[in-house]
Amino acid sequence: MRRFWWFPLLLALVACARVGPAGSGAPEALATIGARLFADPRLSADGTTSCATCHDPALAFTDARAVSVGVFGRAGTRNAPSLLDLDHDHALFWEGRETDLAQAVLQPFTNPTELGHADLQAVVDAVRALPTYREDFEKAIGRAAPEAGDIGAALVAYLQRLDRGSTRFERAQRDGRLDALLSQEERAGLALFSGKAQCASCHTLGDNGGPFTDHRFHHAGIGFERIAGNLAPLLSRIDDARKAGAPMGQLILQDAEVAELGRFVVSGNAQDIGAFRTPTLRNVANTAPYMHDGSVPTLEAAIERELYYRGLFTGRPVQLTVEEQRQLAAFLRTLSIE
Ligand code: HEC
Ligand code: HEC
Repeated sequence: MRRFWWFPLLLALVACARVGPAGSGAPEALATIGARLFADPRLSADGTTSCATCHDPALAFTDARAVSVGVFGRAGTRNAPSLLDLDHDHALFWEGRETDLAQAVLQPFTNPTELGHADLQAVVDAVRALPTYREDFEKAIGRAAPEAGDIGAALVAYLQRLDRGSTRFERAQRDGRLDALLSQEERAGLALFSGKAQCASCHTLGDNGGPFTDHRFHHAGIGFERIAGNLAPLLSRIDDARKAGAPMGQLILQDAEVAELGRFVVSGNAQDIGAFRTPTLRNVANTAPYMHDGSVPTLEAAIERELYYRGLFTGRPVQLTVEEQRQLAAFLRTLSIE
């Protein structure tokens, strides 16, 4: 035993290394700053937009729009995902074009359809010009003039500490009380979800109430008709952007056709054209409208769409009665935080 006296020390070191980027100061203090940055419209190019405009805490950090609208009323091309269940160890954005959360939280500042600044220095200047941020950064990191990396670290600290709450399904599963906490209709929906309807083959069901995603990319036939037969000019728009060194996120959120290419933009593999990340279904009842382009308005319509398309794709149609579809919807409603 004695030979391993250093082992707890090692564990402690590893644990520290996992919390936030190095040199980012006290995480709690940073998270408090992050919460304010997140909701501060003064940090946008038009002075009226913030992260919370599109990731509204009251709407499970979404915006109830098909596609988000940023500064000066500029619409993007994508549906805003909830930030409550960020897939930290996996790819971010609908096609997984970013893997580093610290980078992902800074990109909206310079995206023309989001917060619209010309460059990150403009954001840094805006933060430094506000005395309360100067005081708070001084306390948190010992410097009153934050760099872009410090602003990113504060936003990451905030997002990593969001209260995820718990869902009825999670409590039922954790306590082994499915019969007591779920109605008969909801339990029938659960059985369909992991059985006949085969939803769980992608929206993975573990024994810890989730994660409802396999962290992989699949076709869903959504929005594909927009680009079919018209690929060559799209591919050259991507090439041009790459050559010009333009961030891919800016092209994707401004060009509705490029946005439909999905995972292909990352992998360059033709099979990935139109493939998107399997979204988690946690809080799904609170995040309408649905799909990467927000084209499906209700939960019932999303279930119907998925049933139809999944059967089409595998060549094994899944037929559910109206009653069974209702059960599936009832089950999905137990995945909301209460
Ligand atoms: C104009 C609306 C809008 C604003 C403002 C906005 N976002 Fe987003 N956000 C989106 C949309 C839409 C996506 C999905 C984009 C995509 O997949 O291409 C997204 C994606 C994300 C993701 C990736 C989530 C995931 O599950 O992959 C993170 C993290 C994020 N936003 C954080 C922020 C932060 C932090 C801010 C403020 C600095 C911010 N957003 C401002 C609309 C917005
Ligand atoms: C082959 C993998 C796969 C299977 C099987 C599957 N899904 Fe999906 N699901 C996805 C992908 C990928 C998306 C996102 C598609 C897009 O936006 O283009 C999605 C999106 C959804 C959405 C919208 C979520 C949101 O936040 O926008 C719902 C709801 C949904 N699926 C429910 C179901 C149900 C119910 C079943 C079973 C009938 C099912 N899915 C089967 C992969 C799958």
